[in-house]
Parts: sequence; C-alpha cells; structure tokens
Amino acid sequence: MDSFEWNKIAGAVLGTLILVLVVKFASEAIFDVPKPAKPGYVVEGVTEEVAASSTAAPAEEALPDFGTELPKADAAAGQKVSQRCEQCHDISKGGPDKIGPNLWGIVGRARASRASFSYSSAMMSSHAPWTFEALFRYLKSPQAVVPGTKMSFAGLRSAQDRLNLLAWLRTQSDAPVPIPPPAAKAPAAPAAAAPKKT
Ligand code: HEC
Repeated sequence: MDSFEWNKIAGAVLGTLILVLVVKFASEAIFDVPKPAKPGYVVEGVTEEVAASSTAAPAEEALPDFGTELPKADAAAGQKVSQRCEQCHDISKGGPDKIGPNLWGIVGRARASRASFSYSSAMMSSHAPWTFEALFRYLKSPQAVVPGTKMSFAGLRSAQDRLNLLAWLRTQSDAPVPIPPPAAKAPAAPAAAAPKKT
C-alpha cells in the first residue's frame, strides 16, 4: 500500500467521524426538548399517594368490625391506656372538667355537649354523637379529625389500644351503649337467612 492509499483510508475515517458528529449535533439541536417542570402524564395511584402523604391528614384507616373486636378487647388494658387521658380528663361520674371535659358516658354522648366546659369552636362545629367509629378515628389523630381542636394529644397509633380503651370507656356510663352485632359473614348469611320451604 502506498502513502496515497493510506491517505484515502485516513480521509474516509475522518470523513465518517465528522459526519457522525454533524449528525449528532444536528439531531440534538432538533430533538433536545427541555424537560418540563411537571410531567405531562399522570400515573394514577402514584400521584394520589404523593398527595396523601404531603397533607396533614393521615391516610384513612380501615375501621375494624366493632361487633367482633369489642367483645374480644381487653377493658382492663384499656383502663391503663385511659390513664394517659386522665392527665386532662376526669372520667368518673359527676367528676369535674379539667383541662378537658369530664368523659363520663362519653361513648354515645353528643359531641361538645358539656355546658360547663368551654370547647373550641372546632369542637363545637358538630354535635354528632361520639360513636365507636368517631372515637376510634378521633383518638388516632385528634388534630386530623377535628382540625383546630384544643385537645393537644398526639393520638393513639395502636388500633388495639384504641379498641381496649373503647371497651373500657363504654363501661364508664350510666347506660353503656350496646356493642353492635358482629357483621354478618357474607357467604354464610344467605343460607341462614333463607329457610327452605318444607
Ligand atoms: C393534654 C390534655 C388532653 C389529653 C392528654 C387528652 N385530652 Fe381529650 N380533650 C382535651 C381538651 C382540651 C378537649 C376539648 C377540645 C376542644 O374543645 O377542642 C378534649 C376533648 C375530648 C373529647 C371530646 C369531648 C366532648 O365532650 O365532645 C374526647 C372524646 C376526648 N377528649 C377524649 C380523650 C381521650 C379518650 C384521651 C386519652 C386517650 C384524651 N382525650 C386525652 C384534652 C386532652
């Protein structure tokens, strides 16, 4: 191979390289779109999760079946849990209001109904009865359920603690609210409910 041949090869290689670079630059210039600040597409579920975790309210917790869980709950353990409430609440019959209102008969009692106690306007915004459900949710996170309440208590994370406490609080009443019947088991119900004609 003479030097002319080598020059042709070198030229071809160089030419190819240059062509590749030109194409690369050109395509970048044409196709390089700046990234948008927000993705233009929404992946369902993902964004919901992000939205839920960024707000103050915790994700909704599934309610237990009180008819099944309350009879199994440990009221004695619940009485121990209630000592944390007693920093601020007297639970005894005829007892005084303290930092918080007296809680005798609280299960089933109308919300913010103690005339002797000066409730926050947040608490006064409803007088719906304190059902098992309402208390179960409220005691997990008072501020999330009644935003602006002056009950400065972080809440009881453990569902079992709350069930035990409710089993105890229910008994601290002149007329304990009855425990609801257990939810019917879906597959068993129709057979039991429809007696066969004889
Ligand atoms: C740091 C003090 C404090 C602690 C601890 C506390 N509370 Fe309260 N609680 C309050 C105050 C104050 C209010 C009145 C809230 C308002 O008016 O916004 C209140 C209100 C309530 C209410 C609404 C009463 C009504 O008449 O509608 C319930 C129910 C309640 N507390 C239950 C509990 C239970 C159960 C516990 C224990 C797990 C507890 N609290 C722990 C201070 C406290």
